[in-house]
Amino acid sequence: MSNSDASGKQPELVPPTDANIRRAADLLRAGELVAFPTETVYGLGADATDDRAVTRIFEAKGRPRFNPLIVHVADQDSAEAFVRFDARAERLSETLWPGPLTLVLPRRAEGGLSLLVSAGLDSVAIRIPAHPVARSLLKAAGRPIAAPSANRSGAVSPTTPLHVAESLGGRVGLILSAGRCPVGVESTVLDLTGETPVLLRPGGVIVEDLEALLGVSVLRPSPADAGGEPDAPKSPGQLASHYAPGVPVKLGVHGAAADEALLAFGPDTFIRGGATRLNLSPQGDLHEAAANLFAMLRALDRPEHAAIAVMPIPETGLGAAINDRLRRAAAPRMPLPFPATPRQD
Ligand code: TXA
Ligand code: MG
Repeated sequence: MSNSDASGKQPELVPPTDANIRRAADLLRAGELVAFPTETVYGLGADATDDRAVTRIFEAKGRPRFNPLIVHVADQDSAEAFVRFDARAERLSETLWPGPLTLVLPRRAEGGLSLLVSAGLDSVAIRIPAHPVARSLLKAAGRPIAAPSANRSGAVSPTTPLHVAESLGGRVGLILSAGRCPVGVESTVLDLTGETPVLLRPGGVIVEDLEALLGVSVLRPSPADAGGEPDAPKSPGQLASHYAPGVPVKLGVHGAAADEALLAFGPDTFIRGGATRLNLSPQGDLHEAAANLFAMLRALDRPEHAAIAVMPIPETGLGAAINDRLRRAAAPRMPLPFPATPRQD
């Protein structure tokens, strides 16, 4: 995928000093895009109250406009200004925010969020991120920030500032550059608009912890539901082929061919093959594996590899989010229902 916009501009990567955070906040308030680190992945931020700014996100990502965005806020009071919390949402937010949990809640019409953020739904996906740079930026901007992952739509999410620059090129002007994201997979998205909590996306907070706090089970739509129906997705980010590398991905392997790349998990000395071999976590630690996942998929996504062969990963805890991303990476490519919108300026 091309990494430069029509003008061939490149983004500026700057460290998150106080002065640079103020500069980023000023750009956001002026309706510009800024990429910034969160504990999960880098986000491509825009003022969530500004229609034009939010439109720029969709253009820069080449993202279909029916796919709504996550709104990031600095604190609970700000969250309550934009969405209605019930007892379940209060309980989860008290315990798990700031952190990698996104709650889908009813939108307050008077809250002032751009309607484009919700893509026509009457709900909003919202979270308080835990990363100190994200928190300082939210404070300095003094507004809610809409931010999807800072990559072109359909590509693997960025966990380093260089991934952002490679994927978006000059489509973003400024990247607050703060090294690797510690969690490495996106936030868990939980829909609390209905009576039964529904897991829209497994992520950095494990569903077992949500169920323990809620005292009820969370509905997990089967992975098979996630594809299909591009015009009526409940959580449109669940389009099957997401996070797709350029070369085919094979799952659950116990060996690789000589022209394939091996992505291992746990002890791999007895595993054969692999022109290139990387290990998500030689000790079999799921946190370490999640933090390495996207960077290793990118590193192995090279034309000389016939495929990326991935060893089995347990489905428990963070394994659910890792396997979800891997299944999407392995799913057949689906064309976007609309052509990507070229940037106009
Ligand atoms: O970790 C993360 O969540 C990162 C960082 C930057 O915060 N953000 C992120 O955003 O992954 P994005 O846009 O790539 O994923 C947002 C997900 C999509 O699956 C989207 O469909 C879903 O949240 N979503 C957003 N608003 C929704 C809504 N009102 N109802 C249902 N799903 C929604
Ligand atoms: Mg994304």
